[in-house]
Amino acid sequence: MWDRLKDRHEAAKDRKITDLFDEDRTEAFGIETDGLFFDFSKTNIDPDTFADLIALAEGQGVPAKRDAMFAGEKINETEERAVLHTALRNLDGDAVYVDGEDVMPGVKATLAKMAAFANAVRSGAFQGQGGRITDVVNIGIGGSDLGPAMAYPALRPFADGPKCHFISNVDGADLADKLAELNPETTLVLVASKTFTTMETMMNAQSALDWMSARVKEPASQFAAISTAEEETAAFGIPAERVFGFEDWVGGRYSMWGPIGLSIMLAVGPEHFTEFLRGGQAMDVHFREAPLEKNMPFALALTGIWHHQICGYGTRAVLPYENRLLRLAAYLQQLEMESNGKSVSLAGEALDQTVGPIVWGEPGTNGQHAFYQLIHQGRQVVPCEFIVGAVGHEPELAHHHKALLSNCLAQSEALLLGRDYETAEGLMAAKGYTGDALKAHAMQRVFPGNRPSTTLMYKTLTPFVLGQIIALYEHRVFVEGAILGINSYDQWGVELGKELAKKLAPAVEDDGSTEGLHAGTAALVTRAKALRVS
Ligand code: F6P
Repeated sequence: MWDRLKDRHEAAKDRKITDLFDEDRTEAFGIETDGLFFDFSKTNIDPDTFADLIALAEGQGVPAKRDAMFAGEKINETEERAVLHTALRNLDGDAVYVDGEDVMPGVKATLAKMAAFANAVRSGAFQGQGGRITDVVNIGIGGSDLGPAMAYPALRPFADGPKCHFISNVDGADLADKLAELNPETTLVLVASKTFTTMETMMNAQSALDWMSARVKEPASQFAAISTAEEETAAFGIPAERVFGFEDWVGGRYSMWGPIGLSIMLAVGPEHFTEFLRGGQAMDVHFREAPLEKNMPFALALTGIWHHQICGYGTRAVLPYENRLLRLAAYLQQLEMESNGKSVSLAGEALDQTVGPIVWGEPGTNGQHAFYQLIHQGRQVVPCEFIVGAVGHEPELAHHHKALLSNCLAQSEALLLGRDYETAEGLMAAKGYTGDALKAHAMQRVFPGNRPSTTLMYKTLTPFVLGQIIALYEHRVFVEGAILGINSYDQWGVELGKELAKKLAPAVEDDGSTEGLHAGTAALVTRAKALRVS
């Protein structure tokens, strides 16, 4: 099927996407579920190609793999774990078994414990030394940071609890700048780390504890932990009643639906957090039950496979016309690139094609005034994924939202239609150019067009919609990974750098030796040390 799809691309690559627009196209290449609409009509996928892409997914056994995931089978084979972040939002579903045990009572008990704590903090029943908690600091990195750090601004209109701050980088600047604004006596610190051993998080947690110790008599009383590692959290001094655990079947980058989402629950309250879970749950039901031709995660994933594996486009841009999704691209970079940035199959064999495109993006319209030049006129094709709501949260600024929407739609249309030389020449001739100058000026104004994009549209960005969108992207990663035969749930590629950083730590000390280091590294260590004392 791969060869057949590549042949289809070869045959169709000069075809105009606009020529595909018959009267059925917008209906056939649009999928709606619970108010969320995905439009993939502006891609060079025709009905036969889409049928082949679905056949590819079926041929790779993706529906069966999906069912195995939801059933709690250990599809994360390299770590011998089930993959059940979906259980965290399975509020109304059936029992989910891992090793013969139903995990749902535990999931619900943890959610209730989170809600009780969030309510206590939000109501003022739980206090800091200086009274009601005004600020929450989440210390975590990667999957223990990016989900809540993305969701907090996204759900700002619903945030009526303490203010949240996110410290992730081991660079002391991150900690210093954020703590400088806070009063330790009314701050709650959440140490979020699945393993509770991650170097950045543990160093930041210790420095935050030191910061709090200067002003608070019992600093650990204003700390809570989010972790699977009970011994380590106890050793840090955090009592079990403020430790929120989760199981090893929740991967870090898939974990914001459970205790890693505690900062969000503190900010927006348990009810809105539950709505977020319900949005994820609704997408799960759709993913499991909708026919593949009308299945949003499958369609998004197959569009991705078409663009990256078949057409060879190296990156994809995620362009939310929703300023509050300003951290979505960073979140998706971990979700997609840590999950599918692999080159070895599940069986340990080298893959013969690149896997996992580079994901990047910025909210529109800011991106328009930055990198869209390349998207429109650069030689490389960048498939664009637009995300836009029809109605903003600010009725008094509805005219802003209309301008936002028209910009989003204008961009996808400009990518599609482009502008040919004759039109550009006419424009320049009207300005009085002739001869060589006319040609030169007209050429600058040609847009190749025929550039693919998709659009995800909803009414308003609510907790439910955010849950739908995040679960959609999670399942997209799953489908792409399953088609390619890789394990989307491990991340061995992050280990080597961590190991080397540990080894290098003594060398960067003032009196550390560079002996035994690679010459390229030793030279930089020496230079940094010289700068330290200059
Ligand atoms: O960067 C690698 C990683 O292992 C991510 O997968 C994970 O989300 C992050 O580190 C943080 O890990 P932890 O929650 O254990 O501190």
